Amino acid sequence: MKEDQKRLAGTAAAQKVKDGMTVSLGTGSTAYYVVMELARRVKEEGLSIRCVSTSEATAKIAMENGIEILNLDDVKHIDIALDGVDEIQPDFRSIKGGGGALLREKIAAGLSDEVWWVMDASKPVEVLGAFPLPVEVVTYGLDHIREKLESLGYRPTLRMKDGVPFVTDQGNRILDLHLPEGVHPFDVAEKILLWPGVVETGCFAPICRGIFIGKDDGVEVRENPAPVRYF
Ligand code: A5P
Repeated sequence: MKEDQKRLAGTAAAQKVKDGMTVSLGTGSTAYYVVMELARRVKEEGLSIRCVSTSEATAKIAMENGIEILNLDDVKHIDIALDGVDEIQPDFRSIKGGGGALLREKIAAGLSDEVWWVMDASKPVEVLGAFPLPVEVVTYGLDHIREKLESLGYRPTLRMKDGVPFVTDQGNRILDLHLPEGVHPFDVAEKILLWPGVVETGCFAPICRGIFIGKDDGVEVRENPAPVRYF
């Protein structure tokens, strides 16, 4: 079951966290299990950690479960980031942002000494692209940006929530691109990140140190031999 796979992966990845570390908490249904396991370790094992959050949603869950959340600029550095992904290919390039937190996720993970992605067994793919590419855009000129994306054949849809446009934690909107087969999201990202109004995309370089994949018979850990850095 997918939910068990997420729980297994999240719980296993949370063991990477050691006493005294500063941790970036990810967003989404798999990162949720990281948060819950860390909350358990804080409560039952006396684990002492400092945490920042990649979203208001995760901050709420963490605080409700006894984990204090600090502002990113109130910590000197981040030791480890643990977060989910939507798709990941064998060279560890990935798509994130299904939960809409891609911008904060990319900043926090980029600042972390070490990044681990957690996922169920459906996330690793041969080539990225089946999952719609989330693109965070400002509201000013949004319809024009959408038309430009449409004219390139990227089939953008404005992400909605509860019948109204989804608003990111940074006050922006998300356009999900349904790319034609054979068009790689990283090629698209390279192009559109130069556009004014496009804030960020869900394309994540291979910044992770490795990944935890929850499976029906346990957790597989794959290490990335050459993580890259944004900063
Ligand atoms: C949040 O914006 C995302 O990047 C999530 O980490 C990603 O969508 C994976 O989420 P799930 O673990 O819920 O599949």
